[in-house]
Amino acid sequence: MSSPQHPPGANPERDSTPPKRPESDPAAPVLILAAHPDLAHSRVTRALLSAVHGMPSVRVRDLYALYPDYSIDTHAEQEALRDAKLLVWLHPMHWYGMPALMKLWVDEVLSVGFAYGNSGHALHGKDLWLVTSTGGSAHAYSAGGYNHHPVEDFLLPYAQTAALCGMRFVPPLLLHSAQKASNEEIQAHARRFVEGLQELPEWCDRQPEPAQEEVPTEDRPATQEGVPV
Ligand SMILES: Cc1cc2nc3c(=O)[nH]c(=O)nc-3n(C[C@H](O)[C@H](O)[C@H](O)COP(=O)(O)O)c2cc1C
Repeated sequence: MSSPQHPPGANPERDSTPPKRPESDPAAPVLILAAHPDLAHSRVTRALLSAVHGMPSVRVRDLYALYPDYSIDTHAEQEALRDAKLLVWLHPMHWYGMPALMKLWVDEVLSVGFAYGNSGHALHGKDLWLVTSTGGSAHAYSAGGYNHHPVEDFLLPYAQTAALCGMRFVPPLLLHSAQKASNEEIQAHARRFVEGLQELPEWCDRQPEPAQEEVPTEDRPATQEGVPV
């Protein structure tokens, strides 16, 4: 699986030293939420972060660096989302889903009244791009492989989370067989990532506006006051 139709020519070649967090414009339209519990030993995620270093349209929030104690500043995260047009979730696949801190971010930041529910429209109309890598090969993610299912089946919760919040779920960018990938393959993957970031905001503008799913009141969690939002 790859992102749709990229323009050629981007050159994100960088060395593989850990990227410094870029100084970024708080109103930059692309917000990357990076979540890798061991970034120092990452090859793929680290290469992708290096590739976007310094892109003026891009802000990066490295969740494990920001919240090593797992104590997420929900207000700061929600504020960071407001000006984003394209939200990127960048993480390795861990146990067929997202790493633990990313999941906690989803639980706490995409709250009722903010991301869904009566007044929860903060994300409506934004685009969500999942950029991930798997240890398993493309064959492993097929009916005949040891995971028995195509990788898209494991991504259903992402797609539905986007739908519930009124976000467009952009076709994910994936790298399979990540541990075996050569440096050249990883750099080619990083180029596709940069090209996607350059093209996606305009590509998304040409797609139909996503609808936001309605969650019945009785299915929503109660607020502290016990009142559904
Ligand atoms: C705790 C853990 C769980 C993992 N679970 C999966 C998995 O469910 N499916 C899979 O294909 N690879 C799995 N992997 C392999 C990672 O996805 C792979 O190492 C990663 O994408 C490589 O990216 P990186 O170089 O940024 O670490 C897992 C790795 C770890 C450490």
